[in-house]
Amino acid sequence: MLSEKTVKIVKSTVPVLEEYGTTITSTFYKRMFQNHPELLNYFNHVNQRRGTQPTALANTVIAAGKHIDELEIILPAVKQIAHKHRALSIRPEHYPIVGENLLAAIKEVLGEAATDEILQAWAEAYEEIANVFIQVEGEMYREASLQKGGWTDLKAFTVIDKIKESEAITSFYLKPTDGASIPTYLPGQYITVRLSIPDEKFKHNRHYSLSCAPGNDYFRISVKRENECEPLGVVSNYLHDHVHVGDQLDISAPAGDFVLNTEETEPVAFISGGVGITPLLSMFETLVKDNSEREITFIQAAKNENVQAFGDYVKELAKKLNKAKVYTVLEQKNLEETDCDHIGYIDLSFLQKVVSKNTICYLCGPVPFMKAVVQILNQMGLPEHHIRYEFFGPKVDFIQ
Ligand code: HEM
Repeated sequence: MLSEKTVKIVKSTVPVLEEYGTTITSTFYKRMFQNHPELLNYFNHVNQRRGTQPTALANTVIAAGKHIDELEIILPAVKQIAHKHRALSIRPEHYPIVGENLLAAIKEVLGEAATDEILQAWAEAYEEIANVFIQVEGEMYREASLQKGGWTDLKAFTVIDKIKESEAITSFYLKPTDGASIPTYLPGQYITVRLSIPDEKFKHNRHYSLSCAPGNDYFRISVKRENECEPLGVVSNYLHDHVHVGDQLDISAPAGDFVLNTEETEPVAFISGGVGITPLLSMFETLVKDNSEREITFIQAAKNENVQAFGDYVKELAKKLNKAKVYTVLEQKNLEETDCDHIGYIDLSFLQKVVSKNTICYLCGPVPFMKAVVQILNQMGLPEHHIRYEFFGPKVDFIQ
């Protein structure tokens, strides 16, 4: 329990942190990786270079400072981050390393303004915040280990099949190398792949949504090749080019809270952009397996028919249900005869025609796509809790 004085100091320094937050966390990362290079086996090197992870951490620390005497307010956000931490095998012993380097960074950036009193208050506050994470994550590790076929940290899986779904997307079917069964998971969850790439000093971690419904004796991930801008795609492209049937991958148990609520009965729409189809396909397959009577709309947007994956499969699935409709949206058509319901970007007039106001929408795709679709759904007057989405990469700015 923090003293009143500590709470006051922490809260009163929030504006300073807001001003210098990103500089502090950037300095913090630099320090931490100098002192503990082994931690580069956990962090996404691309996010570090782009600066997205420092921003995410800065926002979280500031938010926590604002609510230091009522930390339950940030619990939903903590849970979301904790899923990622658990999938990355972040452990209680890592927290003091982060705390020590964060405080040193605050001192370095704020200089004399960071008095001993302020540093002491933030040290206590950090411990309090870290304990919330450690507790939530401890519960998640326990749950993962208690599941039938479950495990904590990483487990070796063998690639049993590799199927090209489109010019850009390839699926990998994975089974536990030790022959054990796999745990069930919630439709929409992801697994984390930890990969050693020859000649690279540190390991790479990437999260990939499971692209099929639970209930099989394998996991499937469907991975997009990234050609556009280096160093994006270092893991995805390695999987495409160098990982073949018979190879092994170290993966985490399924994690994530962007999941289908199977209790609800309202109409539901899945709106996917590009490879964002993967978690939504798992959700849709689940409804098909359950013979769902819900009104279902599946909108699949892709750049063109060559990179569109699972198009025919989604249509086949829809035929198994009474109330499922599928719409294809292509930015551009390469062939005149391609079946497509809308050309260009998803817009208001198109969505108004195919999505009713009482629909629950699950969205997944690139950030500009998601921003545009969320804006249109807001314009249409859908309630906020009916608009559910998953961004790729760190959730920047999600805690206010
Ligand atoms: C991701 C906050 C402690 C390692 C994140 C994210 C946030 C965050 C906001 C982004 C979540 C997302 O991608 O959706 C925090 C806070 C911490 C803390 C507030 C302390 C109270 C730690 C510790 C470690 C760690 C102790 C391990 C040394 C990571 C890694 C990621 C991550 C590896 C994934 C991001 C990437 O790969 O670039 N954390 N974290 N975090 N965190 Fe933490």
